Amino acid sequence: MTDWSAGYVADIGYTYGYYAELNPLRIKLAFLNAGLSLPESGTACELGFGQGLSANIHAAASVTEWHGTDFNPSQAAFARELARAAGSDARLHDEAFADFAQRPDLPEFDYIGLHGIWSWISDGNRAVIVDFIRRKLRVGGVLYISYNTMPGWAAFAPMRHLMTEHAAVLGAEGRGIVNRIDGALDFAQALLATNPNFLRANPALKDRLEKLKGQNRHYLAHEYFNRDWQPMHFAEMADWLEPAKLQYACSAHQLDQVDAVNLTPDQIAFLKDIPDPMFRESTRDFMVNQQFRRDYWVRGLRRLSLLEQSEQFRQLRVMLVVGSAIDIAEGDGIARRGPT
Ligand SMILES: C[S@@+](CC[C@H](N)C(=O)[O-])C[C@H]1O[C@@H](n2cnc3c(N)ncnc32)[C@H](O)[C@@H]1O
Repeated sequence: MTDWSAGYVADIGYTYGYYAELNPLRIKLAFLNAGLSLPESGTACELGFGQGLSANIHAAASVTEWHGTDFNPSQAAFARELARAAGSDARLHDEAFADFAQRPDLPEFDYIGLHGIWSWISDGNRAVIVDFIRRKLRVGGVLYISYNTMPGWAAFAPMRHLMTEHAAVLGAEGRGIVNRIDGALDFAQALLATNPNFLRANPALKDRLEKLKGQNRHYLAHEYFNRDWQPMHFAEMADWLEPAKLQYACSAHQLDQVDAVNLTPDQIAFLKDIPDPMFRESTRDFMVNQQFRRDYWVRGLRRLSLLEQSEQFRQLRVMLVVGSAIDIAEGDGIARRGPT
């Protein structure tokens, strides 16, 4: 661990993933589907862009002016090289959120996105980000944010805690992060082989651990082995974002909006009887055992009339593409944040 990393895993680079949810061009379909007025799009910012694949692809393939930061200098250097090669003029920095937030040369943003960041930073950094959004997101602007969610992590959180303890207490720093991860995984598996009561109470743990063993170690390092790791309830997230005057808009994961593929008829009827939309969202997370939310929040939510909604739908052009996350780091398949 290095001084500038504030407990974040920095001795191993993140995967080279592309995340379509970060693309502001996708907001239109989601917002129209939810009956919401469409935001402007001209300036965008990604916080914690990792290797910068998403930010670069979005900057190269749109007229949006892109800015962003990721404090890992190796990753920022790669991201900048991509921006140069694409000639996109994306302004990508290697500053910590707290420093980037104070830059005097940033415009107001129509869109701020952060994917795979919120659950893996300290409360102090979360406060920095909320203050940045409060000052820099334009009225009508959209925040895209993803985070590990309760109750989906309720069973696995203690296991993750034990594995990071193992890596810190029994894994020697000099062995490197990949060895420490492998040691922690082997330990967890050996523990479950003794059939502890914790496994009997949470039988799904075994499969989940088995899946982890097959995953990219770069991904696992960032997902599980940070000092900070905080899954959150939806209502807690709403409390965090309240000072930035943000209101929940809708899920950025388009299929989440189709109740028929996610919920049973009984569950749909049960949710319909809940008058408060925020409490309905919290309850829905129990129905799908939500583990990872990908949401849009908006500063100044406005609803469309049915007529406006259908007129704007008719003007919208969409293209169906297959596959939303690629990982070219290890050539070992798809690594993405989300339910494992
Ligand atoms: C799990 S990765 C996600 C990267 C990218 N958003 C993605 O999904 O591919 C989290 C990233 O946040 C960056 N990061 C963590 N804390 C940061 C901070 N305080 N300031 C700037 N970047 C930070 C890390 O370097 C890392 O690249």
